[in-house]
Amino acid sequence: MNEENRTTQRPAHTPSSGGTTPPADPARRAFLGGGAAALAAWGLGAFGGPAASAGAHGAADSGFDPFAVPEADGEYGLFELDYPYDALEDAIDAKTMELHHSIHTEGYRVGLNNALKELEAARSGDDFGKIQYWQNQLAFHGAGFMLHLVFFKNMAPAGTTRPGSSLRSLMRRHFGGLEEMKRHFSAAARTVEGSGWAILGYQPVGDRFIIMQAEKHQNHTQWGVFPVLAIDVWEHAYYLRYQNRRADYVDNFWKVVNWDNVEARALFARGTRPS
Ligand SMILES: [Fe+2]
Repeated sequence: MNEENRTTQRPAHTPSSGGTTPPADPARRAFLGGGAAALAAWGLGAFGGPAASAGAHGAADSGFDPFAVPEADGEYGLFELDYPYDALEDAIDAKTMELHHSIHTEGYRVGLNNALKELEAARSGDDFGKIQYWQNQLAFHGAGFMLHLVFFKNMAPAGTTRPGSSLRSLMRRHFGGLEEMKRHFSAAARTVEGSGWAILGYQPVGDRFIIMQAEKHQNHTQWGVFPVLAIDVWEHAYYLRYQNRRADYVDNFWKVVNWDNVEARALFARGTRPS
């Protein structure tokens, strides 16, 4: 059992839909829509005002919204995937995709909402006796939910997208080239200890793209970094097909990267800077 499944007192999560496509709930509406407002809420607006006013880089005005997730009764809803569970077979099998999205990611969603509710109750009751536990739950489930949103949206069926010129230019400037970034990213993904992530992110301080390893979800991060490309290397993400061969999973991940999404995220992130 991996570390993710050993989490104690995790709230029960919704069972898998059992189907081959992600669950849909058209009644839910966009939540946290409007990148500028969300960036302001994250404190990033201080770098130059709302993202929408810094559209010199294009992405902020393109309609791309990396913060949009469904909302139900004021809670985070489970985001849908943009492809069927069996669409990434070149890298990840359908059963793993279904379990990863409908069980694991759903568990983070429930845990995040529950932590928010418990913290709200603590504030209204002025009872902070369990504050450390619920702050830990908020970090664990919140980081898990947000990174899985990036990870699943970072992928698309093999051969459907290619790195654009803007992304290539940024990768050349910050890593020496796209291939150099990929080799660095793969090495980070292969070697992160235990359950973790490799993340390409944008740090507005210094206008710099960097690659990080994150153990669990919430450790070894760098505040202020906006995740652009993330790979999940927890065992549940690859073990059915790859068992202990994490390196093969990492190699095949590149076949299903959604380069349109990666470029849009990179440009959106840089749009937060003053021009
Ligand atoms: Fe995961």
